[in-house]
Amino acid sequence: MSNVESESSMDTSTIETQRDAAASPDAGLNVKPSGRRSAPSSVEAHVTGGEIRTVGTVTVDNPLFSCRDVDVFYGEKHAIKRVSIDIGRGEVLAMIGPSGCGKSTFLRCLNRMNDTIAGARVTGTILLDGKDIHDRKQDVVQLRARVGMVFQKPNPFPKSIYENVAYGPRIHGLAADRVELDEIVQTSLRRAGLWDEVKDRLSHPGTSLSGGQQQRLCIARAIAVNPEVILMDEPCSALDPIATARIEDLIDELRASYAIVIVTHSMQQAARVSQRTAYFHLGSLIEVGETDRIFTNPRHKLTEDYITGRFG
Ligand SMILES: Nc1ncnc2c1ncn2[C@@H]1O[C@H](COP(=O)(O)OP(=O)(O)O)[C@@H](O)[C@H]1O
Ligand SMILES: [Mg+2]
Repeated sequence: MSNVESESSMDTSTIETQRDAAASPDAGLNVKPSGRRSAPSSVEAHVTGGEIRTVGTVTVDNPLFSCRDVDVFYGEKHAIKRVSIDIGRGEVLAMIGPSGCGKSTFLRCLNRMNDTIAGARVTGTILLDGKDIHDRKQDVVQLRARVGMVFQKPNPFPKSIYENVAYGPRIHGLAADRVELDEIVQTSLRRAGLWDEVKDRLSHPGTSLSGGQQQRLCIARAIAVNPEVILMDEPCSALDPIATARIEDLIDELRASYAIVIVTHSMQQAARVSQRTAYFHLGSLIEVGETDRIFTNPRHKLTEDYITGRFG
């Protein structure tokens, strides 16, 4: 890897040079510390000119998102440092790392939610389907419909179950009439695995549902405007284990239709739901790779320390 460390710039040709270790694709996933099959192959910090170079393959074929050299500042605070990563279609990407490492900040870059935070500044390039999301011509409302978001705490609007889902399609003019709107609401609730539980009480307040149901309602609300990606920031952390399992099953179903980026503090959850995992530490993307490989054979010392529970 010395050839990589000696390079000073981080363009797309050098990003790919650190290949994932040749973990066999069907290697059994074992998230227990004892499950790691061998010592990390490299423990070097990959520091070049003060920058940390990500270990693993940050690129994917035919990416939906291509993020390059993304930095985020809150005033003087440098919260995201030169992060480059692709997000693939039909994949679930898990973002893990200690509290405060920048997971939520990076997630918010993807639909320009950091624009809403006073003092936040984002630099670098983020392409969605090859188009720069920071382009002056990019309509932010449209962007946020394409890149839906689900938060840690379910946050249904103070409206009926029906209106929670109908709201987005209505403001985006996706339904010609009430019949079409009804159809969108039903389809979205079905896809979110909630229809059977709420079909007889669509006029009840969204907030009358249980926490897990509210979170599925928020997912239905995101789905209703035909997104390409759903961002989820610790979507299960306020839910009990049964509601969590329900959401995890749903994520697995949804990935056939949407790319999903999920921030989670649960490594077990990352291992269960994702195909790729990105490990962040103090604003840097330390390592990214196939989830099985990250949890069985981490290559960076910091990743290994985190997944074996030495800190975090
Ligand atoms: N609105 C904000 N203003 C100032 N600093 C912030 C803001 N949001 C987050 N930060 C800081 O940025 C860093 C990354 O935070 P965050 O993205 O929330 O981390 P994580 O989601 O991994 O816990 C932390 O040091 C945090 O204190
Ligand atoms: Mg967070």
